[in-house]
Amino acid sequence: MPPDLSPLDGPPHRSERGAAPRRVDVVGIGADGWSSLAEASRALVAEASVLLGSARQLALLPAVEGQRRRPWGRPFGASLSLTLAAHADDEVVVLASGDPTVSGIASTLRALVPRERLVVHPAVSSLALARARLHWSDEECEALTLVGRDTDRLRRHLAPGVRLLLLTSDAGTPATVAALLVEEGYAASALTVLGDLGAAHESRLEATAGGWADVAAADVPALHVLALEVRPTGGDVAPTGSWTTGLPDDAFEHDGQLTKRDLRASALARLAPRPHEVLWDVGAGAGSIGIEWLRAHPSLQAWAFEADPGRAERVRRNARRLGVPHLQVREGRAPAVLERQPSPHAVFVGGGATAPGLLEHCRAALRPGGRLVVHGVTLETEQLLAAAYAEHGGELTRHGVETAAPIGTFTGWTPARAVTQWAWTAPPDHPTRWPGDPDWSTP
Ligand SMILES: C[S@@+](CC[C@H](N)C(=O)[O-])C[C@H]1O[C@@H](n2cnc3c(N)ncnc32)[C@H](O)[C@@H]1O
Repeated sequence: MPPDLSPLDGPPHRSERGAAPRRVDVVGIGADGWSSLAEASRALVAEASVLLGSARQLALLPAVEGQRRRPWGRPFGASLSLTLAAHADDEVVVLASGDPTVSGIASTLRALVPRERLVVHPAVSSLALARARLHWSDEECEALTLVGRDTDRLRRHLAPGVRLLLLTSDAGTPATVAALLVEEGYAASALTVLGDLGAAHESRLEATAGGWADVAAADVPALHVLALEVRPTGGDVAPTGSWTTGLPDDAFEHDGQLTKRDLRASALARLAPRPHEVLWDVGAGAGSIGIEWLRAHPSLQAWAFEADPGRAERVRRNARRLGVPHLQVREGRAPAVLERQPSPHAVFVGGGATAPGLLEHCRAALRPGGRLVVHGVTLETEQLLAAAYAEHGGELTRHGVETAAPIGTFTGWTPARAVTQWAWTAPPDHPTRWPGDPDWSTP
């Protein structure tokens, strides 16, 4: 039971100290509430005229006479913004679980409160507590948040021997994760549910993914970190554990409209993803270029444009299956479908390059230093690419890939259609024409 506090127990309210600008203090608290707080954080909580937090967190703290307490509303971001505006002249303390900078409220507040007014007071993160309980070092495991995110994101991280700490949405997550691991051939993986870390009623539950059916749903606490040691069921490990571009073609569901493995690797080498960059995959087909772009780093973003609704749906399925459900799929014909989309650092045109104006639209939209890669197999596209190369420079390459295959009882080379590839990098002074510019339709 938290002690009963009156404001007289701590230092005076900051508002009584004079005309200092109002600060917003973000105070991290553990599952054990008041006893997890350092002296300085206790004083801030006791002094606050307004205390914001989840209903669970607010209930963990002692009553303070005259203090107004505001539980989160929905939608969260809008409610937080309105509440802060309503209390612009008050001493506001925002409660957060553990370390507010770990998948926490600090990043939301950063966008709402000027830097000099925002002060973050971290407590021990649930991730640090989980590592301590498991004796895992930070260097040998990776943290991934599934809070408010699609569980399919986990698929990108699965490879034998990987150790993961998952921040989860609710008590149902371990069952969903166990089913996903079984589906991916990792039924032998060890799951440890570390519940209410730091609380007196802290708990620990262990099972393999394959054995999860025997765990009673009621035994899984809502607040937990889920630790995974990824182990394959048999010797046959899926190639999708690798993040290097050039997954086997059969890793994708496709109807033949797929940039094949060797050409895909070649294109992505030139698209050259760097953290936080945006790709347009124009004429996405099976979505393989956008998918491999996203798999290169979690901060990357990609938009896949596909005119055929059936193929667009297939792109979505492939993206989920390969761990990048955040691929943005837009149905429609380029160049019209490209308007008002975020300006890209890289553009791949895998099909339809002869559509009037398309190449110029894509070139114009690139940011300075952006990369354009276009593939073509027809004479018409080849002519277009040769003309673009003559006008703008870059790199023009013809790729012929031949694969050994049986000819009767012998083996011979089976050639695929030759692909002409034009790769071009925008100069540093490239005048990006942003989608939505008044002159966007006539670059
Ligand atoms: C939005 S994240 C916030 C993480 C927090 N900032 C931290 O440093 O622990 C919320 C998730 O963290 C995990 N979590 C937070 N506190 C926990 C605790 N005391 N015990 C177990 N898991 C906790 C749960 O997975 C929960 O769904």
